[in-house]
Amino acid sequence: MKEKSSAKLTFGDGRSIDLPVYGGTIGPDAIDIRALYPKAGVFTYDPGFLSTASCNSSITYIDGDEGVLLYRGYPIEQLATHCDFLEVCYLLWFGELPNADQKKDFDLIVARHTMVHEQLSRLYQGFRRDAHPMSVMVGVVGALSAFYHDSLDIHNAKHREISAFRLIAKLPTIVAMAYKYNVGQPFMYPKNSLSYTANFMHMMFGVPAEEYEVNPVLVRALDRILILHADHEQNASTSTVRLAGSSGANPFACISSGIACLWGPAHGGANEAALNMLTELQAQGGVEKVGEFVKKVKDKNSGVKLMGFGHRVYKNYDPRAKLMQETCREVLDTLGLHDDPLFKLAMALEKVALEDEYFVSRKLYPNVDFYSGIVQRALGIPVSMFTCIFSLARTVGWIAQWNEMISDPEQKIGRPRQLYQGATRRDVLPMAKRP
Ligand code: CMC
Repeated sequence: MKEKSSAKLTFGDGRSIDLPVYGGTIGPDAIDIRALYPKAGVFTYDPGFLSTASCNSSITYIDGDEGVLLYRGYPIEQLATHCDFLEVCYLLWFGELPNADQKKDFDLIVARHTMVHEQLSRLYQGFRRDAHPMSVMVGVVGALSAFYHDSLDIHNAKHREISAFRLIAKLPTIVAMAYKYNVGQPFMYPKNSLSYTANFMHMMFGVPAEEYEVNPVLVRALDRILILHADHEQNASTSTVRLAGSSGANPFACISSGIACLWGPAHGGANEAALNMLTELQAQGGVEKVGEFVKKVKDKNSGVKLMGFGHRVYKNYDPRAKLMQETCREVLDTLGLHDDPLFKLAMALEKVALEDEYFVSRKLYPNVDFYSGIVQRALGIPVSMFTCIFSLARTVGWIAQWNEMISDPEQKIGRPRQLYQGATRRDVLPMAKRP
């Protein structure tokens, strides 16, 4: 990193310290505070890391005020329009888009890794049939480290690459198996003659008794969902993967920790929460009840949030939400669901919220999850599987970020400090003397 300038921090008692300032290729500069504690004996305090760059990265760039999202410099709109998901995986992992030969080779490598160890399928039997598929995902992905011992040396670049390709290739199989187990249907083996996303749909919706017919419009819609969710800078689950990986944990364990974090309703669980919210509102009267519902959302005591709205970084329209809305329309048209009540309700809710002072002043706009649930539901994906599909898509981002961290010479085990507010030193009293 190149020093761009310096910043002087002056304390009340007159002491001061100069800190280097680094510039990124785009985006805000960052003050290097590593010398702060050794030289001045103070920590910085930043709950939720609102002003903290935890690493330097060349993978994804977000400008939240302008609504810009770039993977390796390419705008998400162009990638979502001109590339398929595996090209985006190649880009995130290798840093460049593949040419035709590289794409052919990469597609083949991924296709050759789609099957899981046969014994892994027995692991599923240990879960209750009604277990949330995300709980199954956390367990099964973590268990991959018990099956693929030959690629666990994190200091070996080739091992890291094989693990990454295995994860990208096997996640659709693992997600589809979680679904099949839940509904009590036989697991479907992957079919490598199909594209990555078509194969996933075959494993989800096919049954051995009859051939699954792939609809290219629906495949393209799901492929776009995967592209839009592939990476998103240092969000909660990616930071979880990096933190877990900073101790030297194996990649499968790290991705499993990312899946656990993603499950939360403030993060990846939001698409499930958003669709549940729309379904409930529809049951209570739909479009006519929008005003009443928005009133409830604005009341801090109600505990109700408008799910699929707001974002830690985007303080403008989430560019992924625009693309998702477009895909939503396309899918509903293809399936003859032009009058889908939930889509109409979502549009009405969005319109009211975007004109309301509460949302305008807080810069709350729809995020990607506001429409992705409607698309997935139309594709026949059950609500409980939404976050699993998000984890499938985000796996490439997590593993690319993990690899970048391991390869970074400045990498250290993650170890935040704290502002201690607890009791000062005191002695243990004998039981009889305790108050
Ligand atoms: N509905 C109602 N009020 C909201 C919402 C919402 N969805 N989001 C934020 N606010 C309010 C919040 O109460 C606060 O108000 P005030 O300033 O009066 O206290 C203000 O807006 C700022 O919110 P914040 O909680 O400080 O914002 P944050 O950056 O900490 O949280 C968020 C971001 C995504 C957790 C939050 O907007 C949220 O919970 N949204 C709903 C869940 C959701 O859709 N999550 C998906 C995120 S995109 C997918 C992903 O990347 O995982």
